[in-house]
Amino acid sequence: DWTMAEFREAKIAEIRAQVGSSRVICGLSGGVDSAVAAVLIHEAIGDQLTCVFVDHGLMRSGEADQVVGLFREHYKIPLVHVNAETLFMSGLKGVTDPEAKRKFIGKTFIEVFEAEAKKIGGAEFLAQGTLYPDVIESVSFTGGPSVTIKSHHNVGGLPERMNMKLVEPLRELFKDEVRVLGRELGLPDMFVGRHPFPGPGLAIRIPGEVTKERCDILRKADAIYLEEIRAAGLYDAIWQAFAVLLPVRTVGVMGDHRTYDSVCALRAVTSTDGMTADIYPFDAGFLSRVATRIVNEVEGINRVTYDYTSKPPGTIEWE
Ligand code: XMP
Repeated sequence: DWTMAEFREAKIAEIRAQVGSSRVICGLSGGVDSAVAAVLIHEAIGDQLTCVFVDHGLMRSGEADQVVGLFREHYKIPLVHVNAETLFMSGLKGVTDPEAKRKFIGKTFIEVFEAEAKKIGGAEFLAQGTLYPDVIESVSFTGGPSVTIKSHHNVGGLPERMNMKLVEPLRELFKDEVRVLGRELGLPDMFVGRHPFPGPGLAIRIPGEVTKERCDILRKADAIYLEEIRAAGLYDAIWQAFAVLLPVRTVGVMGDHRTYDSVCALRAVTSTDGMTADIYPFDAGFLSRVATRIVNEVEGINRVTYDYTSKPPGTIEWE
């Protein structure tokens, strides 16, 4: 039996013993896992740690600023913020295959990260917020022996290429435990309680070609959906909720004219570890309120649907 306070102390000692006086770099994704890993490591070794935040332009509304603000201003952790939106958008041009998207984003992320790490220089260790389910799911999936369902871009790749030793203090933890640890470390509730967000970001919530314009449309719809979920007091009861922008246009009517715009799908699931999931049963009034707001407020969307698929057979993300 151990408490999270004990886990924290034990990990801090372990990190110090592992790292000694060497330098560590940590990639921040904007999510809870890498943030908790970074704060824990910073507590252990202070300014021997430098964080690198590769901003691929595929974040949700306001997210990049929140991460940068939290680390630079609140924790005073040295942070390099790389704005690589143009690089990612130009590389995603014409790419529609889900695995091709994931691979391009993963590879480019590594390249940008590697270049920044070189600039910082002299780091012997690479820190990652890898969790227990990441370790399992990237190897196999309950649907069959060693079948890769999706190539996750936060595990593997980097360490071998960069010839660095790994620091992965969260490897034994599940998501809910990471949240407890995050609170223990004083991370703000709003941040710790955040829904998980995939490494490839909005790219895998835009089936078909990803463009900056489509990302902007999706960011608006997603922000409205989450605002309504928070206002209804449902945020913490849901594992993940997000909007998906479909490559399908349908006919609608606004006032007295015809529209021909994109469809947006809403997804919300409950889960304990992301490996299986059930749909969140919103009441119809809630969903129609969100649908009305999105169609009225987001130019480019004229129809909203709700995804009723559990995992399995569906996955949580659409790609
Ligand atoms: P799926 O879509 O496979 O997602 O049911 C399970 C959980 O994993 C998240 N996810 C990712 N997280 N890098 C990540 O860090 C990825 O490439 C990635 N792909 C999916 C997804 O959001 C859900 O929580």
